[in-house]
Amino acid sequence: MSTAPAPAPFADASGKVRVAVVFGGRSGEHAVSCATAAGVLRAIDREKYDVLPVGITRAGEWVLVADDPAPLEGGRAEITAADAQVLVPLGDSSSTGLVLAAKGEVPQELGKVDVVLPLLHGPFGEDGTLQGLLEMAGVRYVGSGVLASAVGMDKHYMKVVLAGHGLPVGPYAVISPRTWHTDKARALDSVASLGFPVFVKPARAGSSLGISKVDRLEDVEAAVVEAQRHDPKVVVEAGIDGREIECAVLEGHGHAAPRTSVPGEIVLDDPASGFYDYETKYLDTAPLTMVAPADLPEDVAAKVRGLAADAFEALGCEGLARVDFFYTGTSVIINEVNTMPGFTPFSMYPLLWEKSGLSYPELIDELIALARERDAGLR
Ligand SMILES: Nc1ncnc2c1ncn2[C@@H]1O[C@H](COP(=O)(O)OP(=O)(O)O)[C@@H](O)[C@H]1O
Ligand SMILES: [Mg+2]
Repeated sequence: MSTAPAPAPFADASGKVRVAVVFGGRSGEHAVSCATAAGVLRAIDREKYDVLPVGITRAGEWVLVADDPAPLEGGRAEITAADAQVLVPLGDSSSTGLVLAAKGEVPQELGKVDVVLPLLHGPFGEDGTLQGLLEMAGVRYVGSGVLASAVGMDKHYMKVVLAGHGLPVGPYAVISPRTWHTDKARALDSVASLGFPVFVKPARAGSSLGISKVDRLEDVEAAVVEAQRHDPKVVVEAGIDGREIECAVLEGHGHAAPRTSVPGEIVLDDPASGFYDYETKYLDTAPLTMVAPADLPEDVAAKVRGLAADAFEALGCEGLARVDFFYTGTSVIINEVNTMPGFTPFSMYPLLWEKSGLSYPELIDELIALARERDAGLR
């Protein structure tokens, strides 16, 4: 049996763990993040945790938000600016008392937090930038650190790292802003050599934002321009004809190996109508079914779980990740690693754990416990 390192001492005299739940943010997934936060605020055990809800506006300001899930639900929530901003003092000695600073007034201490729970998706939240800020502040936080977050966000480097570990990824091309502007013909050639259809994607986005499926060379340029609205760097992938299988990973305690859930499957009710795009993911009438466990041969399910754990370790993930695959009937290919997967009570990640014996509130407990066990700083 592996022994877990002793958790950090409590910041709260009541013996409750003080958790700053951080959500919203600057990415296109602002409202999705708010919906996740609503789910967590409803489910987190108030006997164990003292919760400080902190919203990040689309402009990047941190503000204190009412501890009320209702206005955060529905998929259209927006964190608005306030007179006072929440500041994160940097340096090891602070570790970390948040401060509420109103313009022209004496800053007010919000007290120390034991753990930050960053429920942010996309750039400036899931990509290592927020994680870097928290590292500088010497505060523990849930989920992957700077490197794994950055690699997981970038569909180009994610493939480089996975392939470097001998893990299966599909054929792809990268279009940098420089290539596009100086040698568009070469960029288009690299796309054509993949065959059609292709998927044209912003390198660092999420929730399918800016992604197009393209069937003809003459439509590639428009798709690249669309993807560039989200990210100057674009990744183009050969279309893979396969089932979409997802597997949830949770870090092990102490030196134990990562734990994997039963695999699940995203089944579109009408695959001919498109792919798993933003509307499909978040419209209330989502025309899809999440099947968990996925109906897979035993050896394929085992392979998916093994690859999910390998991908988690290849990127150096911490806490949680959801690893997404295509299963073609003969091979299992990794599509992507999400270091902050959808985490509403209705999302695939919690569903997969529920089907594997861990409820949503227990999952929140696990994530906070894992974050408290680990050291701040290099580890
Ligand atoms: N190479 C591909 N082949 C087939 N379908 C793809 C491919 N890439 C993406 N898709 C479809 O587009 C969806 C979104 O792409 P994904 O890379 O997962 O982006 P995001 O990070 O926004 O979720 C996938 O779930 C899948 O339905
Ligand atoms: Mg995806």
